Amino acid sequence: MQSLNIIGAGRVGRTLGRLAVVSGACRVVDCLARSHESAREAVSFIGQGRAVDALKDLAAADLLLLSVPDDAIAGVAQALLASGAVRPGSVVFHASGAAEAEVLAPLRAAGAHVASLHPAFSFANPARAVEQFAGTLCALEGDAAACVALQDFAAAIGARPFALAPGGKAAYHAALSVASNYLVTLTELARQLALQGGVGEQLLPALLGPLMQGSLANALSMGPQAALTGPIVRGDVATVARHLAALPADMQAVYRALGERTVALAGARLPAEAGQSLRAVLAGG
Ligand SMILES: NC(=O)c1ccc[n+]([C@@H]2O[C@H](COP(=O)([O-])OP(=O)(O)OC[C@H]3O[C@@H](n4cnc5c(N)ncnc54)[C@H](OP(=O)(O)O)[C@@H]3O)[C@@H](O)[C@H]2O)c1
Repeated sequence: MQSLNIIGAGRVGRTLGRLAVVSGACRVVDCLARSHESAREAVSFIGQGRAVDALKDLAAADLLLLSVPDDAIAGVAQALLASGAVRPGSVVFHASGAAEAEVLAPLRAAGAHVASLHPAFSFANPARAVEQFAGTLCALEGDAAACVALQDFAAAIGARPFALAPGGKAAYHAALSVASNYLVTLTELARQLALQGGVGEQLLPALLGPLMQGSLANALSMGPQAALTGPIVRGDVATVARHLAALPADMQAVYRALGERTVALAGARLPAEAGQSLRAVLAGG
């Protein structure tokens, strides 16, 4: 059975450590956090391993998870290299969604294979996360040997690993941010416009919720182009002009930018002439 050291025994470290033990994927050897108390709590939650206080005290392990905050990964990797705790052939990986495996590149000097394994999951509470983790998609990129080992590890703890293109981490993470954060921002823009139009605050969830949820479900199941409805795909140029005339100044730019993307998305569903007129109105012509 493979062995695992956890450096950064917080929410992600504890959850993946516990999953490794209960699934039989790995034997957890050592856990390290900033405080000894935190490392001890992690060992107790994981149900296996030893709390250590310094990188140099880590025993040899096949896999080393650096589940420290993103900003600490590069520094911990440098300290790990200096500690001599990384053995040739071991796999060192972090769990950040935004950082590349390349942030661990210095560890190749010690013979390590490096990778990142990002679970697309919110680890608010480790006990609940252990219960709910099964089936979670995990983005994997890095050295080939590390990816092979981590594919097995991820599958063994119940995840669904998938490969990212080399250098694709920033675009991947931007996709997640657009999908979750910008959806929230769009909700707020729609709320403000509905309030401006005189809709009572208490009606907003019932008015916007089914529309937004239905549109999202259609876009995911039918594909965005087929799911598109509304004035742009219908070619209702005058309606779009009336929207623009009613919009507060601080919403003009975002409405115009998203409108232009929507004209492009409508593509062949929109007669060429209507597309040109819409582009002109959206550009302020
Ligand atoms: N939380 C999520 O939902 C989520 C989802 C996907 C990916 N991730 C990624 O997972 C990684 C860890 O996130 P997290 O939410 O688990 O963070 P967290 O709960 O804040 O835990 C971070 C852990 O790192 C330890 N630590 C901090 N600096 C350290 C250092 N210099 N040396 C050793 N240990 C150090 C902390 O020690 P103390 O306990 O003593 O403070 C803590 O145990 C990040 O890369 C994050 O982007 C998080």
